Amino acid sequence: AAGAVVLGIETSCDETGVALLRWTPKAPSEGLLAHRLFSQIRLHAEYGGVVPELASRDHVRKLLPLIRGCLAEAGLGVADVGAVAYTSGPGLVGALLVGAATGQALAWSLGVPALGVHHMEGHLLAPLLEPQAPEPPFLALLVSGGHSMLVDVAAVGSYRVVGDTLDDAAGEAFDKTAKLMGLPYPGGPALAALAEHGHDGVFRFSRPMTDRPGLDFSFSGLKTQVLLAWQRSDQSEQTRADIALAFEQAMVDTLLIKCRRALEQTGRRQLVIAGGVGANQRLRSALLEAGRVDGFEVRYPRLEFCTDNGAMIALAGAIRLASGQVASTAATVVPRWDL
Ligand code: KG4
Ligand code: ZN
Repeated sequence: AAGAVVLGIETSCDETGVALLRWTPKAPSEGLLAHRLFSQIRLHAEYGGVVPELASRDHVRKLLPLIRGCLAEAGLGVADVGAVAYTSGPGLVGALLVGAATGQALAWSLGVPALGVHHMEGHLLAPLLEPQAPEPPFLALLVSGGHSMLVDVAAVGSYRVVGDTLDDAAGEAFDKTAKLMGLPYPGGPALAALAEHGHDGVFRFSRPMTDRPGLDFSFSGLKTQVLLAWQRSDQSEQTRADIALAFEQAMVDTLLIKCRRALEQTGRRQLVIAGGVGANQRLRSALLEAGRVDGFEVRYPRLEFCTDNGAMIALAGAIRLASGQVASTAATVVPRWDL
């Protein structure tokens, strides 16, 4: 109901995210009371990727202190929480269970509803947390560590996946490519930073699946191209940067071509970018520029709401509860779950 404070909990992967949102349908961005995030990146870095067992244990450690911190920041007591929304999938099963069990237990003890939320719906709705929120219908490009999708959003809750990845997700492609050139985890931001020092035109990689019709992606071939180029090169610092730049250009070009195609096919005039790869500056500016040329609007969540966070889960939960969805009473999670 309007005015209720929704506690959002995100624990699907390697970020513990918590937020408090006072639900106001007209201006969701004004209702954000507090949000906190603990990133486990340093915990997993020495293993070169997320270790599921360590992720779960750390969520257990961090979740309640983060919730306390948010309540303190908002000047609220736990009894002010009117509903709990937690990510129930997709993601790492143990990690998801931490958020689900905590969320359900808290809601049960407070006598308030608890709702499991789809992680990608959270990403999809994150731009609504900005002051100038896009109104559906819009086309969304969801690019994260686990997904690369083009989604036609006719209305909140009405989603049609028009393009998907056949193999690696966009973020996964960034991460794997970075790793094979010896960059630290998570590779996406590291590779993007390195690309800043790259010289244009030294390497060139293909734009996969853009020469035939369709909106699906495939990025694993690109990774192989980089591997071959890297193995045959002098493996100097400059070469690494040159390859990083060429890879980033190929990724951005491919995403741009598919976005333009999807906008044309769906007739939408607004493009919303969400998910961790949406933090990529080259992608952001390429899409903004295309929007200027073609006449479509481009909307992003702020950088911290591109990657995993509790605010987007609070928002998605609030919207679903307001639309009459009934709360769940079991701490079930769905590790693999289509949008
Ligand atoms: O949405 P997210 O935080 O988590 C998932 O739900 O997967 O996305 C994380 C992904 C990682 O693969 C990370 O490397 C990528 O987003 N990423 C980036 C950038 N920042 C994060 N990729 C490219 N450029 C960036 N600046
Ligand atoms: Zn995510």
